[in-house]
Amino acid sequence: MNTYSLIDYTLERYTTREVAMALGVDARTVRRWQTRETEPPPYVDDAIRQRLLPLASNASSEPAAFTFIDLFAGIGGMRLAFEGQGGRCVFTSEWDPYARKTYAANFNDGPDHVFAGDITAVHEKDVPDHDVLLAGFPCQPFSIAGVSKKNALGRPHGFADKTQGTLFFDVARIIAEKRPKAFLLENVKNLASHDKGRTLSTILDVLRNELGYTVTTKVINGKHFVPQHRERIIIVGFREDAGFSWEGLDLPEIETAPKLASILHPQDGSEPESWTFLEGAKRKVSANYTLSDKLWAYLQNYAAKHREKGNGFGFGLVTAKDTARTLSARYYKDGSEILVSQGTKKNPRRLTPRECARLMGFDDTFRIPVSDTRAYKQFGNSVVVPVIASVAKLMAPLLEEAATKKPAKTRKVA
Ligand SMILES: C[S@@+](CC[C@H](N)C(=O)[O-])C[C@H]1O[C@@H](n2cnc3c(N)ncnc32)[C@H](O)[C@@H]1O
Repeated sequence: MNTYSLIDYTLERYTTREVAMALGVDARTVRRWQTRETEPPPYVDDAIRQRLLPLASNASSEPAAFTFIDLFAGIGGMRLAFEGQGGRCVFTSEWDPYARKTYAANFNDGPDHVFAGDITAVHEKDVPDHDVLLAGFPCQPFSIAGVSKKNALGRPHGFADKTQGTLFFDVARIIAEKRPKAFLLENVKNLASHDKGRTLSTILDVLRNELGYTVTTKVINGKHFVPQHRERIIIVGFREDAGFSWEGLDLPEIETAPKLASILHPQDGSEPESWTFLEGAKRKVSANYTLSDKLWAYLQNYAAKHREKGNGFGFGLVTAKDTARTLSARYYKDGSEILVSQGTKKNPRRLTPRECARLMGFDDTFRIPVSDTRAYKQFGNSVVVPVIASVAKLMAPLLEEAATKKPAKTRKVA
C-alpha cells in the first residue's frame, strides 16, 4: 500500500479530525492529502502504520487451528477470545455503524473475510463454511414460544415457525445450513427466566431436537476475572458429542479476584499522553468525568426516595477496593451504576471508556475510535473477554480435528 492508499484506508475507519490528531496536523492538511492536492511528507506512512493501523494483521498466513464466524459481533470480544485459541475468523456480521468502526479499527482482515451488516438480509448459503459459530444475539422483547395456537391450527411447526422474526431464527437457519462442528451462544442470565422459561426451552429444543446438537448451558459471573458482577448464560453445542464438559472450566477464585484498583487510572503520570480523557503531567482523569452538582444531587434524592419505599434502586458508589455492578449499555446516561468515589470533598466520577474496556477484560492495545457515548454503549453490550476465553479454551481441543473435515451434509429441517 502506498501512502495515499494508506490515507484512504484510514479515512474509512476514522474521521478526518481523528486522523489529523493522530498525525499531529490539521484537518485541512489531511483533506488535501485525501484529494491528492498535496503530497504527504515521508513520515506520514510510518506514523499511520504505527498509530492508526490495527496492531497486527489478523489475516495470518499460518494455518488456523479452526475457523469461526462472529455473529452480532459488537466490537469483537468473542473474536478476541477465539483468536486466542488459534482460531481464524472468516465472516463477521454487525450492523451498527459505530460498533463496525471500532471492530474495523481493531481487526485487520484480508479481502477474503466478509464483514456483513444486517444478518437477517444474509442468505445462509452465502455464509462461508466454518467450524464454530459465535453469536451474542440480542435478547429482544420477544416471545418465541407462542406456537400452541399455530399447532392447534394444524400449521407446520419447527424452528422456522417457532422463532421466525427473531434473531435466534437467523442463528438457527445458519446452523441448519452450515452444520458447524460447534457453536457458542451468549446472552443475559435472564434469558433463562424470560417468558417463564419458555424462551430458553424453545431455543434449547430447536438446537437439540431439530438441529441435532449436543447442548449444554452454564451461567458464568465475570467477577472471577474482572472486578465486575456480570452474569451471563453461555450455551455451547457440538454437532457430534465431543465429550465437552464444564468440569475443566478454569474459573479463578472470586475471593482473590482483582478489585477495581486493577482497572482505575493510577493518575501518577505513567499513562499515555495521547489518551484524551486524562490531563496534566500526572495524567489525572479529566474533570469532564466528575458528576455535576445537579446530577449528583438528583441521584442522591432518587436513591433516598427509593430507600424510603424499601427499594434497593440507586447509584453504586465504589472505591478501588470494590467490585462494580454490571456495566450497562446505558452507562453513558448518568453512569449511576458505577460511580467512582473521589473523597468527601469532591463529587464522584464516571469511569472513562478505557476503564470500561479494562472492566470487560480488553487490554490497553484495544483501540477506541468512537465518542465516549458510543464507547460506553459498546463496552456495556460486550462480553467479558476472559470469560469467553475460558470457554474457548475448553472447546478448542475438541475442534482441531474438525479444521480439516468438511461440514456434514446439510440436514433437511422444518
Ligand atoms: C449484545 S451485543 C453483542 C456484543 C458482542 N458479543 C461483543 O463482545 O461486543 C449484540 C449486537 O448485535 C448487533 N445486532 C443487532 N441486530 C443485528 C442484526 N440484525 N444484524 C447484525 N447485527 C445486529 C447489535 O448492534 C449489537 O452490537
